[in-house]
Amino acid sequence: MQRSDRLARIFDAAASVGIVVPAFNIPYLPMESAVADALSEHDAFALIQVARLEVTKFESKSITTIADEYRRCADPRVAGLHLDHIPVIDEDGLNVDWEADISEALQAGYDSVMIDGSRLPLDENIAVTKQVVRMAHREGVLVEAELGSVLGHEEGPLPPYEELFASKAGFTIPDEARRFVEETEVDWLSVSIGSVHGAISPATKNQEKIQAKLDIEYLKKLREVTGIPLVLHGGSGIRQSYINDAIQNGIVKINIATDIRQPYERALAAGGSIADAQAAVSQAMRRIICDVYSIQGSASRLSSMIGEQT
Ligand code: 13P
Repeated sequence: MQRSDRLARIFDAAASVGIVVPAFNIPYLPMESAVADALSEHDAFALIQVARLEVTKFESKSITTIADEYRRCADPRVAGLHLDHIPVIDEDGLNVDWEADISEALQAGYDSVMIDGSRLPLDENIAVTKQVVRMAHREGVLVEAELGSVLGHEEGPLPPYEELFASKAGFTIPDEARRFVEETEVDWLSVSIGSVHGAISPATKNQEKIQAKLDIEYLKKLREVTGIPLVLHGGSGIRQSYINDAIQNGIVKINIATDIRQPYERALAAGGSIADAQAAVSQAMRRIICDVYSIQGSASRLSSMIGEQT
């Protein structure tokens, strides 16, 4: 079985029983082994992922380096490898050579890739996503796209959160989502239903994240019209009751960056070593796996659901 076929079947199995697959971002290379070890220790299935901005603005080095480190330290039974946000237009408004980044990931053996055309008009987002689906599916690799906008990566302050949530600015529109999925044949869709990304600019990246809410009624409509696994970005700091409801109503993958990045950075800022910072990540991972998502043992459970011997 191709590795990405396995991943697709794991996602179907997870969706059918309401197990979430978290996806952990790696902005600093030494975080990767700490994340991989925590997944093995708790027998929890998750994705390890890197976004373009973590290569350009943090210290994950390159798309290929993250894949090499994945092969060195991760057990593929408990961890898939995903390329997060490759924007067509980045958070600073600049055009990106997305084709080069996607090609690099396909070459490096990623199981799934994300193309983010959410800053484009709908027709252009559909066109570019179709192109990536064609490139990736040829190699047996799954594709995530984004429709609507999950804010937070841009410079400068966000509008007040309660106003943003009440106005539903940037929320994914169900009719557009139906058309998007039909025309692109994308595998997973990142939807905007109230979450925001953790800030990444040097002035704001240490701030505590707002406790986002989610519009679950909206999510139910999106699930009904798309029929594919939905992805929640901005996973750090969302209020627990909303997380539980989201997982019961179509969210299969949740992206988490800030909740593991900030402990790593704080440990180093306090004069700790890389090993101390990795220990801080392990501690954060334990809380996320056991307390937030309760997915201890999910790797074995999902593996047996897809008919593997454990
Ligand atoms: P957080 O920083 O809020 O966890 O968001 C991560 C994310 O969505 C990466 O794509």
